[in-house]
Amino acid sequence: MIKVDKLTKRFGGFTAVNNASLEIGKGSITGLIGPNGAGKTTLFNVIAGVYQPNSGTVLLDGEDITGLPPHELFHKGMLRTFQIAHEFSTLTVRENLMMVPAAQAGETLWDVWFHSGRVREQEKRVASKADEVIDFLEITHVADELAGNLSGGQKKLLELGRTMMVDAKVVFLDEVGAGVNRTLLNTIGDAIIRLNQERGYTFCVIEHDMDFIDKLCDPVIVMAEGSVLARGTLAEIKANEQVIEAYLGTGLKNKVAS
Ligand SMILES: Nc1ncnc2c1ncn2[C@@H]1O[C@H](COP(=O)(O)OP(=O)(O)O)[C@@H](O)[C@H]1O
Ligand SMILES: [Mg+2]
Repeated sequence: MIKVDKLTKRFGGFTAVNNASLEIGKGSITGLIGPNGAGKTTLFNVIAGVYQPNSGTVLLDGEDITGLPPHELFHKGMLRTFQIAHEFSTLTVRENLMMVPAAQAGETLWDVWFHSGRVREQEKRVASKADEVIDFLEITHVADELAGNLSGGQKKLLELGRTMMVDAKVVFLDEVGAGVNRTLLNTIGDAIIRLNQERGYTFCVIEHDMDFIDKLCDPVIVMAEGSVLARGTLAEIKANEQVIEAYLGTGLKNKVAS
């Protein structure tokens, strides 16, 4: 579904992503792991159109999407969430969800007033879609809570919920597990698995928690110092000398090698 070919991204003289090539298969939950500073987030940002690459290409279903801006990728069903959740804190959970389709359609407040009849009809559909998402993620108890009052984990669930408001084909999740307690992490993991199995979403997931990766991801891709080091099942990755080497001295060695 996604094919990244020889992608390079430099910041000044520093090469954050170095000639990286990888594929994300349709229907997969692909894991992306690697020590801090490996270039994982930068790779996501280049794929998602936040940064232009210095060289290389990104294909989506065979179509060259290199450097397309995020809103155009959004229209093509490619969504990403951020390492730092960016909810609208003064809107409720339901309102946050309901904003997504209008933002996708590029609607302004003017459109909303001008076509109010059509919008009311549409709003009903959007509201029932939001309720469906809230049910799916089992966050009914916070549906009318201001997003700013949610816990870190609940914000991550809301992020995931936002991807469900539109027809996403491929979703990029950057450290969904960061700062999330075990129970909520399991809820997020289950939601990802169900979206994958029941709705055919393809995922690419950056995560440090190896139990989470183990439960969700096949294959797993390892990055270090801007390059793709290895790809395989987590068991294969753990047995790979180069990978163990890359994690040495980062304090993460035990996570990957144990
Ligand atoms: N906007 C930026 N400007 C300069 N350097 C950056 C920028 N974004 C990331 N980097 C650098 O690129 C490297 C890779 O960062 P990042 O992609 O965030 O790694 P990861 O997500 O794997 O931890 C790091 O050394 C980081 O400091
Ligand atoms: Mg990162």
